[in-house]
Amino acid sequence: MKSDELISGTTTICGVIGDPIAHTMSPSMHNAAFKACGLDYIYLPFRVKKDELGRAIAGMRALNIRGLNVTIPHKVAIRQFIDKLDDMAEKIGAVNTLVNENGIVSGYNTDAQGFLQALLERDIDPAGKTVSILGAGGAARAISFILAERGANLIILNRTPEKAGECAGRIAQYFGREARAMALNNQNLKAAIKETDILVNTTSLGMSPDVQQTPVTADLLQCGTVVFDTVYNPLQTRLLMEAEKAGAKTISGIDMLVWQGALAFEKWTGQQAPVDAMRTAAIKRLTER
Ligand code: ATR
Repeated sequence: MKSDELISGTTTICGVIGDPIAHTMSPSMHNAAFKACGLDYIYLPFRVKKDELGRAIAGMRALNIRGLNVTIPHKVAIRQFIDKLDDMAEKIGAVNTLVNENGIVSGYNTDAQGFLQALLERDIDPAGKTVSILGAGGAARAISFILAERGANLIILNRTPEKAGECAGRIAQYFGREARAMALNNQNLKAAIKETDILVNTTSLGMSPDVQQTPVTADLLQCGTVVFDTVYNPLQTRLLMEAEKAGAKTISGIDMLVWQGALAFEKWTGQQAPVDAMRTAAIKRLTER
């Protein structure tokens, strides 16, 4: 594509569907990636209401849109409108990436693999490690399943312990691994953290504007642990600041966000994603707003 021409008659279209969609970071990240690779692609936000989801996917086929990311509230409901579902996405029960091959739409969950890549890029392999996961919602399911597949030992702590138990049950069923489930309270956290190599927060505690909240009190944090907060706004959550002070290694949710995007990019374009350009664009977008 000529550098002075953003969209032409041959431009391939990708995008994101969700509602609300105004605060999405994905267009900044993906358009920066397309530009960095000199690809004749564009990425657009689409606000799609719940009862329009089926028609949106019909539109994707009719308009030959190459790929879409799927966000709240469509990640679960989207499954009924697509043609193929990746095995891990099926297990997780949520889809965040669609690929359109000549009208055949396949669904994937790159959140799960994106989380794993964020660890692996720092030479942290969770295989054989003990990982404590705080929360048992959609994000926790994606993260715990990919970790179970990789061979990590899991402890799931959730405010509602029944949901932690449900998640552990699925892990036993799908991956044949024992996962421990318990209530998220100080006593259980203290015991779990003693044997934890990697601690992952998937709850929304600490997310802007409630930046003073944290799922773990500072006195429980210790050096030698890796602390991964899936919250990316703010970039430095209270949990990460206190973990760093305690001497722990920290990873921000921005890395998972960037890697889930990078993996989607690779499915759409067949090219390796320019991860650093995507990270720079995401951080710029986050600090601008
Ligand atoms: P996501 O897709 O981001 O995981 P979700 O499915 O709504 O979102 O899950 C949110 C998770 O954060 C849940 O584990 C929730 O705990 P409950 O199952 O008890 O609701 C957890 N969470 C949200 N707010 C919380 C809070 N104030 N304290 C502790 N956990 C909280």
